[in-house]
Amino acid sequence: MDKHSFARPNEAAITHLDLDITVDMAARRIHGTASYDIAAKDADSIIFDTEGLEIEAVTLADGSAAPFTLGEENFLGRPLIVRIPRGAGKLAIRYSTGAEARALQWLTPQQTLDKGKPFLFTQGQAILTRSWIPIQDSPGVRITYTARVQVPSDLMAVMSATNPQQRSVDGRYAFAMKERIPPYLIALAVGDLAFKPLGPRTGVYAEPGMVEKAAWEFADMEAMVTAAEELYGPYRWGRYDVIVLPPSFPFGGMENPMLTFATPTIVAGDRSLTALIAHELAHSWSGNLVTNATWDDFWLNEGFTVYFEKRICEKLYGRDYAEMLALLGRQDLERTMAEIAQGPHPEDTRLKLHLEGRDPDDGMTDVAYEKGYAFLRTIEEKVGRERFDAFVRSYFDRHAFQSMTTERFLALLQQELLGPAGITYNTDAWMVGDGLPADAVKPVSDRFTKVEAEIGRWTAGTPAAQLGTKAWSTFEWLHFLRHLPSGLDPKRMEEMDAAFRFTGSGNAEVAAAWYEVCINNGYHKPYPAMDEFLVTVGRRKFLLPLYSALARTESGRQEALAIYAKARPNYHSVSVRSIDEMLGWEKVSSVTM
Ligand code: BES
Ligand code: ZN
Repeated sequence: MDKHSFARPNEAAITHLDLDITVDMAARRIHGTASYDIAAKDADSIIFDTEGLEIEAVTLADGSAAPFTLGEENFLGRPLIVRIPRGAGKLAIRYSTGAEARALQWLTPQQTLDKGKPFLFTQGQAILTRSWIPIQDSPGVRITYTARVQVPSDLMAVMSATNPQQRSVDGRYAFAMKERIPPYLIALAVGDLAFKPLGPRTGVYAEPGMVEKAAWEFADMEAMVTAAEELYGPYRWGRYDVIVLPPSFPFGGMENPMLTFATPTIVAGDRSLTALIAHELAHSWSGNLVTNATWDDFWLNEGFTVYFEKRICEKLYGRDYAEMLALLGRQDLERTMAEIAQGPHPEDTRLKLHLEGRDPDDGMTDVAYEKGYAFLRTIEEKVGRERFDAFVRSYFDRHAFQSMTTERFLALLQQELLGPAGITYNTDAWMVGDGLPADAVKPVSDRFTKVEAEIGRWTAGTPAAQLGTKAWSTFEWLHFLRHLPSGLDPKRMEEMDAAFRFTGSGNAEVAAAWYEVCINNGYHKPYPAMDEFLVTVGRRKFLLPLYSALARTESGRQEALAIYAKARPNYHSVSVRSIDEMLGWEKVSSVTM
């Protein structure tokens, strides 16, 4: 039972979706018909999730109208209840999207990289698909889909499905996803796109001005797929492509099957941030093959994926690299845990969540990712890698295209791994306990220890330019920036920036970490560059820490509100929702506007 969906798939479930839609870039609406195959047993009605959709007509296979009602609206949207004759196998809904569809971000040409054409992308996870398609929007539902999409003829459309590699003459595109996927993975992007192949089954889509850079950055993609297969079994989706979206994309990446959606902020020019591709690729097993049954089981998607991502990186780039990455993740976790413990939902530090009555997005934190990772890594070290890998591989294989609950996973873990290995282990401490269990394995990194030594030298007075930073990777720089002492005086900040040129860095991770240091030390010189960053980049992971650091002082809060007023129209609803809440935007804007 999924508390974040109105649907009752055990009574009547959709099994296939066929979309026939038109994307109206000028009116910012999608309209058309969604047709479904349904498996209804004895039910006399079927329930869909909708949010802000205008339902124009519901018809049965013979063209006759099916009576429908829209239920009461709440934070989950509105249920659409359709009366069906017993044994009905097909249904069609003519609809259009509302003005505020949360899944959709419509960009003006100015908000794109090339600034020539408008752009649209969708984001389904967690419960946003219902705002652009009437659907049974639960991760426990699985469907195949086909789509015919009409877009302006100067634009190209791509989906989480088989994709075109060239623009069509008439703006019509056809898609097919032949594997059964949960609805949060249905995705569409429309814009001025170019494609460049990387390997036999990999390639990259981006605006023309970005596609070459992106192809260079992601040169290892084909090797990543091969490495992943060597670890945990065949890649089952045919092609693996990535689309680099405009900078307002609210996430680093989204694992839409066959076509990962990615932020341009990982195109750093030095291939240093491509672990994110390994992460989204890993979801092709953890998440897209074996899917969290409900959003309370989110750690099964993300914890596994972080673990898998590290293993791909270790195979390709070595243990050092993977351990630095893991340690940065652990730092994120410790910071997040401390914040959650202070907040209104301290129980969110548990792996198994209880998100009933809340937007699932609010409970999706580093805990699922990094505590989930720490759990799996701790198990790996207890049973040994060989045993662990054999278990994981067969787990993906035997539960492919199914959903999984935390309870079921723990039972499998016990029966198939811990039991046979003769290990008794209290997994409850991880699942229902707060914080991090004392025996959680912690990654180690000599390279980070060396970074700390350089921080020590700088603090003791060595000029920044004389520090031993020559061979440092982005990870070492991040560790450096995260561990600078507080209360730095502006002279030293300036000296450091002159030596390392953090301000305006083309590496978004480094830039964001630096701006946070600047805010925390009251060093204002980089603020114009930070403003520019906040107005263009919409990735929530960068925005929240910066706005919240600013908001810690009253003058900073005013600064944050001024920047946000400019930047907000550029952000996706996902980022807007989080920042509105953090800054108390509704209250402020209703007073001043
Ligand atoms: N599936 C997530 C993104 C997501 C999570 C969307 C929750 C909506 C709700 C994706 O795989 C992800 O984890 N992205 C991370 C990158 C990663 C390297 C940790 C991100 O966006 O930063
Ligand atoms: Zn993920």
